[in-house]
Amino acid sequence: MDTKKFCSLPEEELKAVLRGRMNEHRFEHSLNVAERAVFLAEKYGADPEKAYFAGLIHDICKGIPSEEQLAMIKAEGIEPDEDTLKSPALWHSIAGAIYAEHELCVSDEDVLNAVRYHTSGRGNMSILEKVIYMADLTSAERNYPDAEYTRNLTDKSLDEGIAYGVRWIAGDLERRGLPKGKDTEALLKEYENVKITE
Ligand SMILES: [Fe+2]
Ligand SMILES: [Fe+2]
Repeated sequence: MDTKKFCSLPEEELKAVLRGRMNEHRFEHSLNVAERAVFLAEKYGADPEKAYFAGLIHDICKGIPSEEQLAMIKAEGIEPDEDTLKSPALWHSIAGAIYAEHELCVSDEDVLNAVRYHTSGRGNMSILEKVIYMADLTSAERNYPDAEYTRNLTDKSLDEGIAYGVRWIAGDLERRGLPKGKDTEALLKEYENVKITE
């Protein structure tokens, strides 16, 4: 696709940047998320090109050290709240949106938010944000115990997929003694009445 619609680089150069910033496994994951995001976008009414682009770059800062991710966030003038500071897994998403805006000249707010919230989720997500959140959880190489189930559920209903996904994530955070944070809490609350029908 023409990634220059959304950033300063053509697709092959963008992929070279990604390859330089992450290992092979994460690069493959990024390609898989992009591909899965297109499928979900077409099915649920997001822009497939934006979905591909956002999927491709969503983990662009995951390969750098956590301290660097946090430093990028602080340099941007963002003061993370206490829960975010306790959750290094969230930092690459926030840093990724900062990198996308400043280094790749991405200006589309929906794309930036899809990157920014792909790990935590949040309340009132746009369709693109939902698509990237679930594409990340259900990309082709994902093989956690419920991956296949979550993938099939998401193919049937994006909202049921999110309801299942966010409950699973919340449970996992609880088991690991980590805070859910206000954004994941908001998503959990928004979806608390969504019934999973299978
Ligand atoms: Fe991520
Ligand atoms: Fe990811």
